[in-house]
Formats: sequence, C-alpha cells, structure tokens
Amino acid sequence: VGAGVRALPSYDHLRGLMSRYTVEHLVGVDPAQFEARIRGFLSLDDAAIEQYRDPAVQRDLSIRFHWGHDHDFGSFALPGMMGDRHITLLATYIDRFDALPRDLRGKRVLDIGCWTGGTSLLLCAMGAQVVAVEEVKKYVDCLRYMKEAFDVPGLDPRNLSLYECVGQEFDDRFDYVLFAGVVYHVTDPVLAFRITFNDLVDGGLCLAETASNPSRRPLVMYEGPRRVLGGSSSAQNRTGWNWFVPSARALREMMEDVGFSDVRVEDAAVSRTFAVGRRGHHVDILRAGLSVRSIR
Ligand SMILES: C[S@@+](CC[C@H](N)C(=O)[O-])C[C@H]1O[C@@H](n2cnc3c(N)ncnc32)[C@H](O)[C@@H]1O
Repeated sequence: VGAGVRALPSYDHLRGLMSRYTVEHLVGVDPAQFEARIRGFLSLDDAAIEQYRDPAVQRDLSIRFHWGHDHDFGSFALPGMMGDRHITLLATYIDRFDALPRDLRGKRVLDIGCWTGGTSLLLCAMGAQVVAVEEVKKYVDCLRYMKEAFDVPGLDPRNLSLYECVGQEFDDRFDYVLFAGVVYHVTDPVLAFRITFNDLVDGGLCLAETASNPSRRPLVMYEGPRRVLGGSSSAQNRTGWNWFVPSARALREMMEDVGFSDVRVEDAAVSRTFAVGRRGHHVDILRAGLSVRSIR
C-alpha cells in the first residue's frame, strides 16, 4: 500500500485542500499574531498541564510539544514528525481501498489520536463534521486555536482518551472512525476496536492503520515503554512508547472478533498495515475476560 502513494490520484487533490488553512484564510487574527501563538505552542515543555504525577515515566511527546504533520501556513511552514502522512493516509483509503469518498459533506467522522490535527483539518476540508480526540491536552488546545483562527465550525477537538468515547454522545454516531497510528500505543487494543465498532452507525467503516509485526501468524508482540525506537532524551523527541504491535493477521482477527465484517487488511511499505472493517450491524462480543465488563 505504501509504495507510490504520492502518485495516487487523490494525493494532489487532498494536498490542495490543505491550502484552506493558510494565513490568508485567517478570520479575525492577523498572520503575525497567529504565527506567534503557534510558535508559543511549539515552545511548550509542560508536564503539569497533563496532570502527570511523575513526568520521568511519561512519554516525551506528551510533555514537550512536537508538531505532528507537515503544514505550510503560507507565510511560514512547519515540518511534522509524521511528514505528509495526513495526506497519504486519506489518499490510501480513497484510492486503494475505495473506502472513503472525496466528498464527505453530510458525514460524521471520529478522528482518534489527532495529534496537531492534520487529518482532522483535512477531513473537514473534505466536508465532514469531525470529532477529533486526543489524550494530550496541549495538542487539543492548539487544534482548538486553529479551529477558531480558521473558522472551522465542523471541527470539534476534544481532550479525551479513545477509551472515553463511549455512551450516548458517541454510540452509533459516526459514518467513519479514523483509527490511524494509535493501535500500538494503547494498552487494550481489543477494547479499543470494540469502542470504534460501537461508535459507528450500521454500515459505517473503521479505517485503521498501525505499526505491525511482519509475522504471518496471528501474533501480537509486546513492545512496552522501555523500548525507545528513535530520537534522543536531550531533544525530548524519543519515539516508541508503545504497548502491543500486531501482525496483519492478528489485526484482522481482532477486528473480526469485536464484530467487524468485510475486513480488508493490506501491508504497507515499512512494518505498517492498513485495515478497513465494516459495522454491518451491531453484534455482541465475547464477554469472558473483557477489561470493561459494562462495555456495550
Ligand atoms: C502516532 S500519532 C498518530 C497521529 C495521527 N492519527 C496519524 O495517524 O498520523 C498517535 C497519537 O495518538 C494519541 N493517542 C495515543 N493513545 C491515545 C488514546 N488512548 N486516546 C486518544 N489519543 C491517543 C497520541 O497522543 C498521538 O497524538
């Protein structure tokens, strides 16, 4: 899936949509003021705002602010730690999976783990109503600022864990759940997928993407927080901070076991896997061993 993704027909279209978020589209904020505020977020190095008891055992990216996805604001540009992934991800779901239309007017999307909001802004530019959830408060504050600055009424940034996306406000509410780059960061991927299943409408699609193990077996590798994969402590940009990394087959079986049907799984270039699953209709899940017994 990964190879040639920038040549996909929707890549340039989506890239063009991001020009909706350049300084000439600011509403009631002048460009210098906007840049100063964004650079203020970039200089944040703050564990207290996240209410951590012991910052020493917390993830660098939760304490020190790092920009997620490349963004050219016109008068200045920010490189993101995940590059143009917001564009390549959505182009893949549109062109390779035929799972997402280019026009999302009238559709509701839940974007889980939105970081600085690259995918959320892009989904809004495609016409969707987007609820963007992120467990790190400083990123949500930044995205909320951009929502106001660019006047994006369809965007609802929320400082929530995906595990809090339950109940009336979330159940049966979304046509799509974008669950990209998060599966391997969470402590209970089965419960996480079950929540995405519950949040969809019947017929809705879960668009998942994850780091993956190359095994052909249904294997889930433990890759706990002690494994640093890159970056340095001095720059506070170490990557890793994972829990469980599934193989493609484990991913498929996990999605089927929480209730999804028509699950399609495809490996991408470097140890990453895409998956799309449909909630045909709401079905129960095996209750034995569930970490949250009350989960719908
Ligand atoms: C690797 S980034 C992926 C960003 C984006 N979704 C993408 O695919 O490019 C993972 C993001 O998910 C957030 N995250 C991790 N676990 C989460 C959880 N349980 N609930 C909400 N956000 C979470 C992280 O803080 C981080 O911003």
